[in-house]
Amino acid sequence: MQDQLQLYSMVPILRAAEQSSQTGKPAAIGAFNVNFYSQAMGILEGLRRADAPGIIQASRGANKFQGGPEKVQSMVLQAMKDSDHSLPVALHLDHGDEEQAKICTDKGFSSVMIDASTLEFEDNIQLTQNIVKYAHAKGLSVEGEYGKLAGVEEDVIHDTTTYADPYLVPYFFNESNADALAVAYGTSHGPNKGSSGGLEKLAIHVVDLSYKGMVAYGQNQDHFLVSHGSSTVPKDIVDEINAQGGNVQGAAGIPMHKIQEAVVAGIRKINIDTDLRLGITATFRKWFNNNPGIETTSTDVLAPIKKVLDEKLDAIDPRDYLKVIDIELLRNDPAGSVLEEVMSLVQERIASHVESLVNKFGCAGLAGKVECISLNEMAKIYAS
Ligand code: G3H
Ligand code: 13P
Ligand code: ZN
Repeated sequence: MQDQLQLYSMVPILRAAEQSSQTGKPAAIGAFNVNFYSQAMGILEGLRRADAPGIIQASRGANKFQGGPEKVQSMVLQAMKDSDHSLPVALHLDHGDEEQAKICTDKGFSSVMIDASTLEFEDNIQLTQNIVKYAHAKGLSVEGEYGKLAGVEEDVIHDTTTYADPYLVPYFFNESNADALAVAYGTSHGPNKGSSGGLEKLAIHVVDLSYKGMVAYGQNQDHFLVSHGSSTVPKDIVDEINAQGGNVQGAAGIPMHKIQEAVVAGIRKINIDTDLRLGITATFRKWFNNNPGIETTSTDVLAPIKKVLDEKLDAIDPRDYLKVIDIELLRNDPAGSVLEEVMSLVQERIASHVESLVNKFGCAGLAGKVECISLNEMAKIYAS
C-alpha cells in the first residue's frame, strides 16, 4: 500500500478505470465535492467500504468557505489521518480559474481543473496549456473543460448546453496537454436537470465519438473524459427533505442507467456534489425535527443553523446554513462539540451514498489496481 498521507495525481487513478474498461469491466472514478470535515470523512469511509480509489474535489466556493486551499488541504489530510485512509486519493480543484489553479498547485492539491470553457476554443486551449505547464512541473494532473453545461457553473449561468464537438476532442488534448477533459454532453449542475432528468438533452454520442477519436490517436491511456453535473438526485432524499419541512421543487437527476451508458461510452471521472448536499440537508432537517428545542442548548451554534433552515426552505447547499457558525467547528473533528451527533449521522449518510455510487460506477475494488506514482515522479515523467 501507500504512505498514509500522500495525495495522488488523477492520472494513475483514472488509468485504473481505463484499464478495467478495456478488460470488459467499464469503470469510472467518483469525484466528490467537499466543504467540511465530516463530509470528507463520509466520502473516505464510502470509498473504503467499496475498496475504491477516489477523487475529493473542492470548488473555488469551497476554498473560500474554508478560508483558502491550504485549509482545505489540511482538512482533507486530517480526515485521511483520522480514518487511517490507505487507498489512493487525489485532491482536485473543481472549476478553477487561472489564479486558483496556480494557488492550489502551490498549496498542496494534487490536481487542478482550469475551466476556461467560456473562452473561444483556441483561447480555452491556450489558457489550459498555460496551467498544464505550471501544474505538470509539480506533477499535478490538469482537467480542462470544453463546451458549456446548461445551468449554473460557479458564478456563470448558461441557458442552454453548448455541446463539445467530439471531433475536436483529440485536438484539444493534443494541443493543451491536459490529462482530463470535461466534455459538455447535456448534463447540468444542481438539482434541476430537466423534466425527465434532462434525458432529452443528453447526447451520449458526444462521449462515444470523443473516446473513439482518443483511441484512434492512442490518447486513452493517459487522457480521460469527465462527466460533470452527474448527480442522480434520488427522489427519496428529496421527499425526505420536503417531509421534514423543506421545500425543494422540480428536482430531477441523471438516471443511473444513463451514467452507466456514458461510462461504457468512455467517461472515466464522474462529478457528484448535489447528491451529497441533499443527503446532508435531509439529515440536518430530520435531526432538528427529532430533537425539538435542542437549539436552545447551544444558541451560538445550533440556533443560527436552525434559523436559516426554518427561513430558507429550499436550501440544499449546506454552506447556506453552516456559514452562520464558526468555521473551525466545520474544519475539525466535531467530537465533543454540539455538532457531534448530527455530523456522525451526516458522515454515515454520505458514506453509504458514496459506497453505493462507486459500486455502480464500476470502480469498487480498483484501489489495489492504481499504480501509486508520487507527484515528484509524475513531474519527472512529464518533463521527459
Ligand atoms: O460546479 C459545481 C459544483 O457543484 C461546485 O459547486 O461552486 O457551489 O461549490 P460550488
Ligand atoms: P452535480 O451538481 O450534478 O452534483 O454536479 C457536480 C459537478 O459537476 C461538480 O463539478
Ligand atoms: Zn462541474
